[in-house]
Amino acid sequence: MTTLAAGLDVNVVSPQNLLDPNPLYRYLRESEPVHWSEPMQSWFITRHEDVAACFRDPRLSAARTQLFYAHQLRGVGLEKVKDQIYNAERQMLMKDGPEHARLRRNANPGFTLQAIDGWRPEVRKAADALLERVQARGRMELVADYSELLPSQVIMEFFAIPARDQRDFLEWCSDNSRLFAASTGADMQELAVRSNTAIVKLMQYLGKAVQERRANPGRDMLSTMVHAQEEGKLDEGELIANAILILTAGHITTVDQLSNGVHMLLTHPEQLRKLRENPGLMKSTVEEVLRFCPAVPFIHRIAAEDFELRGRKIQKGQLVFLGMAAANRDPAVFPDPERFDITRQNNKHLSFAFGPHMCLGAPLARVELEIGFTALLERMPGLRLDEEQPPRIKCNSLVFRGFDSLPVRW
Ligand code: HEM
Repeated sequence: MTTLAAGLDVNVVSPQNLLDPNPLYRYLRESEPVHWSEPMQSWFITRHEDVAACFRDPRLSAARTQLFYAHQLRGVGLEKVKDQIYNAERQMLMKDGPEHARLRRNANPGFTLQAIDGWRPEVRKAADALLERVQARGRMELVADYSELLPSQVIMEFFAIPARDQRDFLEWCSDNSRLFAASTGADMQELAVRSNTAIVKLMQYLGKAVQERRANPGRDMLSTMVHAQEEGKLDEGELIANAILILTAGHITTVDQLSNGVHMLLTHPEQLRKLRENPGLMKSTVEEVLRFCPAVPFIHRIAAEDFELRGRKIQKGQLVFLGMAAANRDPAVFPDPERFDITRQNNKHLSFAFGPHMCLGAPLARVELEIGFTALLERMPGLRLDEEQPPRIKCNSLVFRGFDSLPVRW
């Protein structure tokens, strides 16, 4: 049992803990593995064993739309995000049991390892084209010039959405996710209105794209989903809601994870040297980056009934945050967990969650990270942080963690 270190505050959303959460995670794992947070009015679970078990526990439901929005909006009326709610209630992410399985099955064929392997050439082409544009400059702002663009271009290809629509798509995704990444003190009224407008635009856009695919099917993800819908498995609202989920869930997460990984490598030169000398370590590097600095540190569930966990009484209707970032550094599972080690084997990180909702897009995310890092290191041999412009970390939310800005040179 550790005591609270001097100056350490148990408030999970204090500015200090959001900036550098690992000392608090360590304390919680060791001393309060099931922690009630007054400021968040929610439970926080931090041990690997518990987090993994909670992901598979039917007493913790993913059907959290209303509570989640109410929690997120902090007093702003739910009617401000009525289209967001309509959409979220039809997404697999917010469903349990057979309903969840039915919606997930519809998208599964597009995400097999074999299907995703087929996209490797397109991912490499997109990465090369982005780096080509900046190569001669000798510097770039990694987030704006690379991390933000690569996943959006890949997902657009994946859905066969024309490049001319990329700007609108990026804006809608960003407006949509800003609501979920809002810091305390943000103008929630404005964020709610913007995010709802964005979801309406995405719904209209996808509605039209569905009609086009029905008339003219291709090998893209949306055509795969339309095909399954025609077999009577999904109604139109569900089809569009889940297409939006895949388009958006695969965006902000991968953007942040790419930036987090590049930052880790550039701040651990001995690991970077090892990787450059042995590119065969790329797969274990990707897993270690996911473990050490996950883009999604926490995800939530809602208690479907009263139950007890490690002697604490969780009540029906309460929100429970499952701490993947904290579990990823649990010494009960990871030897020397605070060490960033790209040769780590048997890496059982929980960064893509676990159980029925385990990230559907994980195979695609892994390919994007692997190729994203490889292309960057191959084309920019002298890659380093820009010593004149410090990075700006984005850590105002528990659910998304990345960089607002990451200037690099070569
Ligand atoms: C490094 C990048 C990524 C990370 C860290 C990540 C993380 C996660 C996590 C933690 C969940 C579980 C959510 C929950 O249990 O409530 C999840 C679910 C999901 N992810 Fe990802 N994700 C990434 C990339 C992607 C990509 C590229 C796609 C698709 C193109 C995607 C699509 C999805 C979908 C559809 C779900 C819902 C699965 C379900 O509810 O059954 N993700 N992701």
